[in-house]
Amino acid sequence: MTSKKKSLPFLGYGLGLRSDHYETILDQRPTVDWFEILTENYLVPGGKALYYLNRIRENYLVVMHGVSLSIGSSDPLNMSYLTEVKALADRIEPKWMSDHLCWTGVNGLNMHDLLPLPYTEETINHVVSRVQQVQEFLGRPLLIENVSSYLTYVQSDITEWEFLSEIAKRAGCFILLDVNNVYVSAFNHDFNPLDYLHGLPKERVAQIHLAGHSNHGDYIIDTHDAPVIQPVWDLYAETIKHFGAISTMIERDDNIPPLEELLAEMNQARRIANTVLQQEVTWGT
Ligand SMILES: [Fe+2]
Repeated sequence: MTSKKKSLPFLGYGLGLRSDHYETILDQRPTVDWFEILTENYLVPGGKALYYLNRIRENYLVVMHGVSLSIGSSDPLNMSYLTEVKALADRIEPKWMSDHLCWTGVNGLNMHDLLPLPYTEETINHVVSRVQQVQEFLGRPLLIENVSSYLTYVQSDITEWEFLSEIAKRAGCFILLDVNNVYVSAFNHDFNPLDYLHGLPKERVAQIHLAGHSNHGDYIIDTHDAPVIQPVWDLYAETIKHFGAISTMIERDDNIPPLEELLAEMNQARRIANTVLQQEVTWGT
């Protein structure tokens, strides 16, 4: 089964759910349209994380975001992992599930790094077949996310955005567009980030990540440990101008600040998107 749906619903503006904020969320019930959970944190039969997730799920929509699918690896798909993921999804009913367009290891080894793939027809065919198997098994739409990268392969004969677009179109899956990752990779590999955005199929982009990074002068590392920088906000505005309203969230994985700081960033995304969309309406009339 491939996804027959042409689009996924607009969920509004969200945050990555982090354990530092469990209690605050339950106490304060902040205005957040949805939370993205890190799938691997909840693949356990019980415990504190699942307790909080179940309570938060009573009041908020969630989506699931994984890091272990390794969709590009030459290893067989890890069906025991997928079975656990499916069981979690069947319990918490996420709006959708995502993972990364990457490989994380071979021969059963998980390096816990999101490694880029060679952008070739052979890799497209390999990944498309695996995405279709995953969607069939899960019975839910899958979103694949563009990763930040620090190397390219001499074997690549198309651009990253052509590679991502072809996989989404042929597999019938959706795209989780990490705008910060586009910025980071554009800087590291010297391409125009607008070429990337404009090269993607509009109907396939269903979610956006925004995050901070570390600039080391002649290269950028995608660290998710700092606020979103102004050039990434500018690129986000261009993204919304091109694609329209897309479910957007702030992704922070290190140096986790108080919840109100992330809420402020989330609301900045909301303001930017609303301003862009309002301008589009005004200019269109
Ligand atoms: Fe991301």
